[in-house]
Amino acid sequence: FKIQEPKNEPYNSFEPGSPEKKELKKKLKELQEEVIEIPAIIGGKEVKSGDTIDISMPHNHEHKLATVHRCGENEVNMAIEAAMEARKEWAEMPWEERISIFQKAADLITGPWRHTMNATTMLGQSKTPHQSEIEAVGELADFLRFNPWYLSQIMSDQPHSPNGMWNRVEYRPLEGFVFAVTPFNFTAIGGNLPTAPAMCGNVVLWKPSSDSIYSNYFFMKVLKEAGMPDGVINFVPGKGRSVGDPVFASHHFSGLHFTGSVGTFNNLWKTIGDNIDTYKTYPRVVGETGGKDFIFAHNSADVDAMVVAALRGAYEYQGQKCSAASRMYIPESIWDDFRDKFVDEVNKIKVGDVEDFTTFMGAVISQKAFDDITGYIDYAKEADDAEIIAGGTYDDSKGYFIDPTVIVTSNPKFKTMEEEIFGPVLTIYVYKDEDFDKTIELCDDTSPYALTGAIFAQDRYALKKMSKAFRQSAGNFYINDKPTAAIVNQQPFGGARKSGTNDKAGSKVNLLRWLSMRSMKETR
Ligand code: SER
Repeated sequence: FKIQEPKNEPYNSFEPGSPEKKELKKKLKELQEEVIEIPAIIGGKEVKSGDTIDISMPHNHEHKLATVHRCGENEVNMAIEAAMEARKEWAEMPWEERISIFQKAADLITGPWRHTMNATTMLGQSKTPHQSEIEAVGELADFLRFNPWYLSQIMSDQPHSPNGMWNRVEYRPLEGFVFAVTPFNFTAIGGNLPTAPAMCGNVVLWKPSSDSIYSNYFFMKVLKEAGMPDGVINFVPGKGRSVGDPVFASHHFSGLHFTGSVGTFNNLWKTIGDNIDTYKTYPRVVGETGGKDFIFAHNSADVDAMVVAALRGAYEYQGQKCSAASRMYIPESIWDDFRDKFVDEVNKIKVGDVEDFTTFMGAVISQKAFDDITGYIDYAKEADDAEIIAGGTYDDSKGYFIDPTVIVTSNPKFKTMEEEIFGPVLTIYVYKDEDFDKTIELCDDTSPYALTGAIFAQDRYALKKMSKAFRQSAGNFYINDKPTAAIVNQQPFGGARKSGTNDKAGSKVNLLRWLSMRSMKETR
């Protein structure tokens, strides 16, 4: 059984007066007229724990979107039971049948659910329509179409059978359930982390970030409409510990699919280690964590191209992509030219309401994010070895708005050159042209992360040298381009070192982590 190679979903561009813009505006209005109640979904049933929190819009925090019922030990144990019950049939279902559900989900989000996926991501996570369209629709549909295709390739990969015997491998799901813990910043990651293990025949408990529950809940509705059987993916919003503790105490826990911070991932890994005797099978641990992603320029770099890359790389989605450019190294000889053009462009960036289709940046996700990011900006304002050359201003009276900020430092180990900020702040270090080699080493040595990186040069020897020197510095490496916006089936995404286990999202490598082989030899 072979499936046709999928194509990447094309994006709408929301031209003025276009039908898709009108439809999306209508959906945005409709959703804001109602405050919805979001239950947990366990074994296909809505479960209301009564322990609720409210969620509101980051760009207008007075506007409430939903009340969410959070899960505690009881609900989580119910979800484990429901998952293990669902597993009996799901794990036995031929993979060709399973994948059709995910392919249908892709058709739904690119069809009748398209505006809902965009509108809920815009309202709940403060994404512009353009940022939402490329991921909550495009990237998510791509995951749901390409992963089945990769799975079909895995399934057809069979060993050699010499005369007189029949050798084969069976790709079994893990013997238990998978725990998917997803971040706020990509609705697509929220969708991919539970569905990738599920299409391999696993059952899943899905704990969404409390900052993206709104769009994630609507994706659960899509899955239901696509025919996902009850109990295969159980939606268990709640506090980290309240959901995590009963999960990790379960004999049936068999895998973690995680995207989030290094601190949380390390804690989860330690908890799994502490409970290792409890588990029936060694759990698979797959995680993508943080980044301190760089742009490194040689003096032969095309300055105009680099201005665009830095602008988009650092500030799209308010710098809240784990791949976002957050530190930059520029040689002195091209600095003045770059600075003038870049600052000019940064000052033109429009920050504000994401429902205005010309806004480039919305609000950052929460009060906590706002406080953390502005803390870094204030630190730079006070420092002797740094200067803010654009932005540095912020206002949380209506929404959590922070202007795109550029810091220049004479200290390559300045705090904002080293620490992940996850906001619209780019720090630049200007180096002497003759220190090119030394500065490459310094860049590699400055951060424990290795997620994304970009190099700029027109000189082929310089590109070669940087490419080699940065071999371990990034899991996704870009040459003369911004370090963000990986596309499924074009740039498999993931980082190494402290950025994660590098089991590339949207790839065969990732799917293999959710399968356990049985080798079979039959003698004729
Ligand atoms: N895949 C995203 C990007 O490449 C990050 O998660 O920007």
